[in-house]
Amino acid sequence: MSDIVYQAIAALWLSLPALSANPSAVIFGGGTPMDFGRTLGDGKRVLGDGKTWRGFIGGGAAGAFVGLIQQLIAMKIGYFPIFSQDFLQAFFMVLILGYGALLGDALGSFIKRRLGIGRGDKAFLLDQLTFLIVALFLLYIAFPSFFSRYFWNAPAMITLFVLTPLLHRIVNIIGYRMGKKEVPW
Ligand code: CTP
Ligand code: MG
Repeated sequence: MSDIVYQAIAALWLSLPALSANPSAVIFGGGTPMDFGRTLGDGKRVLGDGKTWRGFIGGGAAGAFVGLIQQLIAMKIGYFPIFSQDFLQAFFMVLILGYGALLGDALGSFIKRRLGIGRGDKAFLLDQLTFLIVALFLLYIAFPSFFSRYFWNAPAMITLFVLTPLLHRIVNIIGYRMGKKEVPW
């Protein structure tokens, strides 16, 4: 496999915990909103009813769970890129990716509300990329050498930033058809 293709696939593989956290939040979501219904001085909700504690906690855990499965696969099969040889460190990494994604998702909603964009209304790129940016940024803060090894190269970055909005869109259309999402975006 060429280096370029390997770098692209490795980055996609290792960001799966972040990529799977968001759709999982849709499945787990409901109940108490993360902002407890509060509004800010602009009269708009802090985050809105689309960000719930159940979605956050369940979605982050689901993302981390996906990462743990990947870690086990990598440890057993050996061929796949591994988060870390140290299982505890790998656990910490997948938690950062899963919960980082949902923190970023909440940040996206925070920005949408400040811009006056309603809950569930479309915000191009903000909806699709904020979660990835925050998850990767937190990974970079906590594990800079891992980040630079697998993510800080052009094939990885281009693949992630081009494919993520596409994947996001496809998954949301599936969620909509399954009746899990009210809108197909
Ligand atoms: N969800 C949740 N808790 C979260 C994230 C998502 O409960 N922390 C659920 C909600 O039911 C939400 C759905 O997943 O409606 C889709 O998520 P998303 O598209 O991110 O939220 P929106 O409803 O579009 O709200 P916003 O405009 O704030 O992004
Ligand atoms: Mg949405």
